[in-house]
Amino acid sequence: MAKYNVYDCSMIELSKHHSDRKGNISVVQNGDTIPFNVKRVYYLYDVPGGESRGAHAHRELSQLIVAVSGSFRVTLDDGNVKRSFVLNRPYQALYVKPGIWRDLDDFSSGAVCLVLASDVYKVEDYIRDYQEFLAFRQVEMTDNTD
Ligand code: TYD
Repeated sequence: MAKYNVYDCSMIELSKHHSDRKGNISVVQNGDTIPFNVKRVYYLYDVPGGESRGAHAHRELSQLIVAVSGSFRVTLDDGNVKRSFVLNRPYQALYVKPGIWRDLDDFSSGAVCLVLASDVYKVEDYIRDYQEFLAFRQVEMTDNTD
């Protein structure tokens, strides 16, 4: 698995179809909007104010994170550098590459965090211990610049 850093993770502008009378539609489509096929969709909602989520990394999973309603902050960490993104537009998505630690917090009331994932749920893909994550970054990933 290639070693990605937080600068390989970026905001993607989704298509937005606007109608003055009827509102908006944004689209994410396999083979078009994103460089992976979506195998799973899940969403976080009713997150109490002050609560945080995430606090893990994935070994191989890629994800697209969208604030389809409200806002929250995503802090990405590659073991070296941290980068925070405020997600508050339903037509923007944060592309998180494999091997990046993420923390989600600062949820507004009514926030809905939609996650589009490149694979089905696999418990063994999770790293939930930060020290283990740092070791994983050093040992199990190869440098992307090779
Ligand atoms: P978890 O990954 O801990 O949530 P977060 O990191 O966003 O705070 O998941 C919470 C619970 O939901 C955990 O018991 C596993 C379960 N879960 C699934 O069963 N399938 C899934 O696709 C996801 C994302 C979570």
